[in-house]
Amino acid sequence: MDGSNVGLAITQSISLTGIFQWGMRQSAEMENQMTSVERVLEYTKLPQESALRVSQEKKPPADWPAEGAIDFDNLSLRYSPEGNLVLNKLNFHIEPQEKIGIVGRTGAGKSSIIQALFRLAYLEGTISIDGIDITSIGLHDLREKLSIIPQVTITTTVPRERGL
Ligand SMILES: Nc1ncnc2c1ncn2[C@@H]1O[C@H](COP(=O)(O)OP(=O)(O)OP(=O)(O)O)[C@@H](O)[C@H]1O
Ligand SMILES: [Mg+2]
Repeated sequence: MDGSNVGLAITQSISLTGIFQWGMRQSAEMENQMTSVERVLEYTKLPQESALRVSQEKKPPADWPAEGAIDFDNLSLRYSPEGNLVLNKLNFHIEPQEKIGIVGRTGAGKSSIIQALFRLAYLEGTISIDGIDITSIGLHDLREKLSIIPQVTITTTVPRERGL
């Protein structure tokens, strides 16, 4: 073989390694990116929440809840469909404009009562506010009429300038 052919073969085979490495890196990169696709597909299979809005005739009046009477009737709550009952057949009535304090040790279920009011978990039994069963209306119709100040604050970190 003459020198020029040997030179050509060597330079070509050196650049070939680079191309193979690039190919490997691209295929690994694609596999990484596909994780996002996998997640999106998984989210499309999540069970749907109940209706956010209901038809006009089932909607509560615009001024609901005008009084604020709350009735818990055999209300049970669990956080997962097969989980244990966290609230077990709770019955109580709160008069309009009555101010109520709920007392109990950690894990007793105080916050879960709030979760029940907002329909954030699996409920059995009924909760009525001013005579309307809250499961009969849309989630947005219900939630936009209630307010909550949660015990765990949502904090955001704001970068501070030096010296402030
Ligand atoms: N998101 C959740 N998923 C599963 N279990 C939960 C969830 N939130 C609360 N629990 C369980 O439900 C029970 C009641 O909890 P809850 O937060 O209602 O208690 P609490 O009375 O508000 O307590 P604390 O005084 O600490 O605020 C506890 O056993 C808790 O572990
Ligand atoms: Mg709590």
